This record gives sequence, structure tokens and C-alpha cells, in this order.
Amino acid sequence: MRTELFAFALILGGASASVANAAPSAAELEAAGNLFSITCSSSFCHGEGGIGARGPSLRNRNFPPNYVRNTIMNGRSGTPMPSFKDALTPNEIAMIAGYVMSLSPENHTADTGSAEAVAAPAAIPLSDQALRGSDLFFDQTRSSNCAACHSYGSKGGLVGPDLSTVAGKPASAIYQSIIKPAVSSDAYPAITVTTRDGRKFAGIKRDQNDQQVTFFDVSSAPPVLRSLYFADGIKVEPSTGGALYTHKLDGYSKTDIADLIAFLKSAGGDNKVVTAQDLASQ
Ligand code: HEC
Repeated sequence: MRTELFAFALILGGASASVANAAPSAAELEAAGNLFSITCSSSFCHGEGGIGARGPSLRNRNFPPNYVRNTIMNGRSGTPMPSFKDALTPNEIAMIAGYVMSLSPENHTADTGSAEAVAAPAAIPLSDQALRGSDLFFDQTRSSNCAACHSYGSKGGLVGPDLSTVAGKPASAIYQSIIKPAVSSDAYPAITVTTRDGRKFAGIKRDQNDQQVTFFDVSSAPPVLRSLYFADGIKVEPSTGGALYTHKLDGYSKTDIADLIAFLKSAGGDNKVVTAQDLASQ
């Protein structure tokens, strides 16, 4: 077992070019997965198998291998991701990096650990700007973080639409849909729910029957899924003419928004830098 682990660490560490192309065996990946589980899934950080929890999902990302290794070693400033330089040995860091790369099977750089492969440009790695945008998108320390309401692929909230689908739109159009108040639609019906004692909730309706209405309460952040009962004297009305939801962007600079849009566009393989001018041009 020990030798197996050691050989695997060597492969991932790129110390031996001759074995660099051998994909890790199932047993080796399992050992690395166990280490990941103890180190990275705990405290609700990256979730079991990297599906994401308080920290971002690590599945089906497009990380260049050196980026993953550097992040584990040095952490990411401005985010809760700590540095593991002192807590883990270089071999352990290499193992975890290899495991994280294995969570993105589409990533063409994932199965090579040789020095040459690390130096070569990855197929379509996320740009630094898109990675910053991704951190912002999933940053749970912000109450209005995008993932509280939006999913991106398999991860995030269900209040608004999945945003991995907007990648094909021009940056300026995505920007407009972020800054303009959203309008009620069949998919996202805006309602106002008034309780017997006069409390009002701004909501996006999910379900309604004779007994109850279920809606995402977007009166405050983060949104809460509520079910209220007609027997309690509630009134449900469509929010006529009004905006369904206006994105609260006070915590985000123009640069942050550009980074977020760069991230959203990266789902379409577009890794161009998004500048403030791109947002303005219509
Ligand atoms: C409290 C919930 C909430 C939060 C937080 C939120 N959004 Fe939204 N967003 C919505 C809803 C609801 C819609 C759908 C409105 C519509 O379709 O008209 C929407 C729509 C969008 C759209 C348009 C999608 C499309 O299909 O055209 C974009 C882009 C968007 N949001 C980006 C963001 C970004 C970036 C953030 C983080 C800074 C964010 N949103 C945070 C609720 C939210």
C-alpha cells in the first residue's frame, strides 16, 4: 500500500517522465479520494467527491494542473480556501491535486502529470479573470452571492435560471440582464404574499394548490423557500407590472461584474478578457 501510494504520488508529481502517461489505477485514485475526503470535504467545504458545499464544486472544471497544485499549497487570498503548505507533504498535495483533476474527466490536461504537460497550455483552461469570477459566483460569505439563487451546471440554487446557459450571449447583454430589474415570467412568476397580520413577502412562486403556496421569498438575502397556508388567511397576488427581482449589486465593483461575466462566458469556451468597455457597448 505504501509503495503504491508513493508511486502514485510520483506519477502525479511529475517526478518521473517515463510513468507520467500511465493513468492512476482505481486503487490509487481511491487512496487519493480518501485523503481528499478527510482534508477537503470536511467542514462542508468542497463536499463529498468534490460536489461542492460551502466551497465551490470541483467537478467538471477546467483547471490547469499547476493551478490546482498552487491553490492547495498557497490557498486563495480573499476566499476561505486555506494554504495546506504546512499541513500536507508535497506528495499528499500531489495526490490531492491528481484526485481533483480526476473529477474533470473532460479536461485534457487531467491525465498527465509530467513537467512538460504542466508547462504546456491546457486545452481551454479558465482564465485568471474567469477563476476570480467563479470564486465570486460561489462566495458564500456574501449574502447576495449568485449561487444562492443560480445554479451553474450541477451546483447552486434553484431560485433563478441556470447560468451556464448564458455563455453564448454578448457580455453587454449579460450585463444588461444583471443590472435591469427582472420581469415576471411563466418560469419565474412574481407574487406578493400578504399574511393576515399584514406582512408582505416578495416571492417567486414554485407551487400552489388549494391548501398552500410555496415560493422563494426574495424579500431578503439569502432567499428562503416558504410554504404558507390559505387556512391562515394569506392572500396571494401576482406582482403586477412590477419587477420580479432586482439584483443587489452594492457589494460588487464593475471589475467584479466583468469577472463574473468572464466566468459565465467561459462555459462556452470563450476565454476572452471582459473589460468595463465591453459591458457598456451595446
Ligand atoms: C435572490 C436571488 C438572486 C441572486 C442572489 C442573483 N440572481 Fe440573477 N436572477 C435571479 C432571478 C429570479 C432571475 C430570473 C429573472 C428573469 O428570468 O427575468 C435572474 C436572472 C439573471 C440573469 C439573466 C439570465 C438569463 O437567462 O437571461 C443573469 C445573467 C443573472 N441573473 C446573473 C446573476 C449574477 C451574476 C448574480 C451574482 C452577482 C446573480 N444573478 C444573483 C435571482 C437572483
